[in-house]
Amino acid sequence: MLVLMKIVYRKERGKKQPSWRVFSLKELHAATNNFNYDNKLGEGGFGSVYWGQLWDGSQIAVKRLKVWSNKADMEFAVEVEILARVRHKNLLSLRGYCAEGQERLIVYDYMPNLSLLSHLHGQHSAECQLSWSRRINIAIGSAEGIAYLHHHSTPHIIHRDVKASNVLLDSNFVAQVADFGFAKLIPDGATHVTTRVKGTLGYLAPEYAMLGKASESCDVYSFGILLLELASGKKPIEKLSATQKRTITDWALPFACERKFDELADPKLNGDYVEDELKRVILVALLCAHTRPERRPTMLEVVELLKGESKEKIAKLENDELFMNPQPVDKKEDPTTAAAEEISDVISEEKSSKEGLKEEAGPGIAEHM
Ligand SMILES: Nc1ncnc2c1ncn2[C@@H]1O[C@H](COP(=O)(O)OP(=O)(O)OP(=O)(O)O)[C@@H](O)[C@H]1O
Ligand SMILES: [Mg+2]
Repeated sequence: MLVLMKIVYRKERGKKQPSWRVFSLKELHAATNNFNYDNKLGEGGFGSVYWGQLWDGSQIAVKRLKVWSNKADMEFAVEVEILARVRHKNLLSLRGYCAEGQERLIVYDYMPNLSLLSHLHGQHSAECQLSWSRRINIAIGSAEGIAYLHHHSTPHIIHRDVKASNVLLDSNFVAQVADFGFAKLIPDGATHVTTRVKGTLGYLAPEYAMLGKASESCDVYSFGILLLELASGKKPIEKLSATQKRTITDWALPFACERKFDELADPKLNGDYVEDELKRVILVALLCAHTRPERRPTMLEVVELLKGESKEKIAKLENDELFMNPQPVDKKEDPTTAAAEEISDVISEEKSSKEGLKEEAGPGIAEHM
């Protein structure tokens, strides 16, 4: 009897323990082969991410922050606190962290199918593993993850860095939205938080790029760009020539107005997609990326629309005035969009050098698997 009680007590105690823990630097050095270059998965704004394996065989991704800037130090605390408390099937949860001496590291589960970016434009793009059914599930799943941040977590969270490299894919290609380092908790009652502009341009809402006014609708805008990218396989900003660039919305909107959705489908799909779903994804994407924030849907509405649960709402979406004008206007003339495009050049060039690193890290990682 006593033994049984002890077991029950242990089990209960086990349940109460947080599902994350503190790692020692020694353990993470051992797991990543001393942060070996071959283990490097890539590099982002706050440091490098390394593949690793723990003593029990489980695979991890370790984000090693550049701690010499105060900013990174603060982001570390923010990310750890937020990630530790937020749990959802489509949000990448934190496995632990390490803070020893100058080192600040965050430990996540390793996502074997890497990021959406790697499948759309990076090291996995030639393999064409993104079938339409995977894409629609990724679209709905990542929308659900962000909707959870906006509407169900307490307090509400703005992601601020929704983009293809921050949508990771697990072994079943289920979307796991990552990187809450950019997120800030919204105090109750506040509609937006004014702050320094963060995030990656190309995905940035014009009002955020210009005024640094962050709100949930900025995430909705970025999500719209991500959806267009997912359906079409195109990058958020396309270089047409040395001097000419085109945003993905400027390219897609005229086709949507003419109801030529098939022109927008990723050629890698070889026509193998569900027409109705493609149309829904494109229409929702373009409404999300509306230049006027008040016209964008909420993430809860996005989830509902993507799932196609309400025929009425889909019909209303199709008849939105955004899709009625065959010659969309305000985009090019809008100074905010122009400014966002200009800054985004710098960012995308910086990104492509990181992409190079990632490509090189690829084979090294593959050998471990
Ligand atoms: N848990 C993980 N499993 C697999 N790959 C990961 C994991 N976490 C990050 N990565 C990949 O490692 C690379 C670097 O990630 P990191 O978050 O540092 O940069 P980023 O996503 O490009 O930019 P940002 O700093 O804005 O998030 C990215 O390609 C990312 O997709
Ligand atoms: Mg990231």
